[in-house]
Amino acid sequence: MALRSTISLLAFCSASLAATPSHDSVRTLYEFPKPSYIENLAVRSNGQILITGLSTPQLFLFDPSATGPSKPLIVHEFDQSLGLAGIAEYQPDVFAVISGNTSFTTTVQVAGTWNVWSVDLRGVEISTKNGQAQLSSPPVVKKIAHVKPAQFLNGLTVLSESDQTLLMSDVNGGVIWRLDIETGNYEVVINNTLTALYPSPPFSASGVDGVHVRGSSAYFTNFGSGTFNKVPINRDGTPAGPVTTLGHSKGPLHQFDDFTFDCDGNAFVVTGGANTIEMISADGKSHVAIAGNLNSTAIAEPTSCAFGRGPHDKSILYVVTAGGMETPVNGNIVIGGQLVAVKTTSKGSAC
Ligand SMILES: *[C@@H]1O[C@H](CO)[C@@H](O)[C@H](O)[C@H]1NC(C)=O
Ligand SMILES: *[C@@H]1O[C@H](CO)[C@@H](O)[C@H](O)[C@H]1NC(C)=O
Ligand SMILES: *[C@@H]1O[C@H](CO)[C@@H](O)[C@H](O)[C@H]1NC(C)=O
Repeated sequence: MALRSTISLLAFCSASLAATPSHDSVRTLYEFPKPSYIENLAVRSNGQILITGLSTPQLFLFDPSATGPSKPLIVHEFDQSLGLAGIAEYQPDVFAVISGNTSFTTTVQVAGTWNVWSVDLRGVEISTKNGQAQLSSPPVVKKIAHVKPAQFLNGLTVLSESDQTLLMSDVNGGVIWRLDIETGNYEVVINNTLTALYPSPPFSASGVDGVHVRGSSAYFTNFGSGTFNKVPINRDGTPAGPVTTLGHSKGPLHQFDDFTFDCDGNAFVVTGGANTIEMISADGKSHVAIAGNLNSTAIAEPTSCAFGRGPHDKSILYVVTAGGMETPVNGNIVIGGQLVAVKTTSKGSAC
């Protein structure tokens, strides 16, 4: 299965790389006001998309199945934070969300500002009143923990649904933390030369960024060193063996940020300043660009991606972008952060 999907993706890739990305394979669903550093997303089981941004404390909800022009609804605005980062579903329709302070225009205190929240969306639907879309009820929001020693919490993933534990990357701390949702206790579980910090202008020195658990391994990118890695883990998130590097970036603008998997275990990694989405096969042997290109605003400075979960969008990879806010396209073009839909030949769940 993995091989077949790789071959069809290669064909798709050579076709789409030869030309500028066609409007058929990459479609903008929504563009936020400029500048907006949209950072992460999570797809609800009903197909609606939750969106976070580092430049706004508002959590958004977008319905990709809506007919006609549609705009994101504000689900919640978090107190005492300038922005949001990783988001992960830790119980059916209940999400953990990272909030904290970064600023792209002024110098603010970043370290020590990182909180993790629970956002319970059970029963929260989009309804229409007087022709206006709105939420049927607000979500229940509770703080899980203030992770005081963290420098910049960024990526988030469920370690164990039965233990109610999360893993979080600290991109300016160069480590991975485990957080216990019930007690709020946290601890560094992975800290090595592959999670560590490396220079990454125009950003501050950066380390581990995207992190996701699949099977009994944790996978993570390192934004600064440009690697995509896999490490077997124990139930508590600590390494159970050596780290394997499955993919390397191709240069300074080719910054591995967040990623997701298809149902065959192939990783779809966004490349920041290189403006592409790349597929790294489960065994690390194949590494191909599947959408976007360096000199196009079609996928301008992507930050994260996730497959659709609705009946008609299992092959659609939803991508969020920073619009070139930190790394302008061609060195000088900045657009608003976006939510884009990329057609793939893979499936997110249930092959
Ligand atoms: C984040 O910055 C804002 C504005 O400077 C400040 O009011 C808030 O207390 C900060 N949050 C944290 C958690 O330090
Ligand atoms: C990570 O490991 C390094 C090297 O052993 C150590 O100096 C550093 O304090 C560790 N970081 C954390 C947050 O535990
Ligand atoms: C393509 O983008 C690169 C990186 O931003 C830039 O250096 C180069 O000048 C661009 N090429 C064109 C033709 O605009």
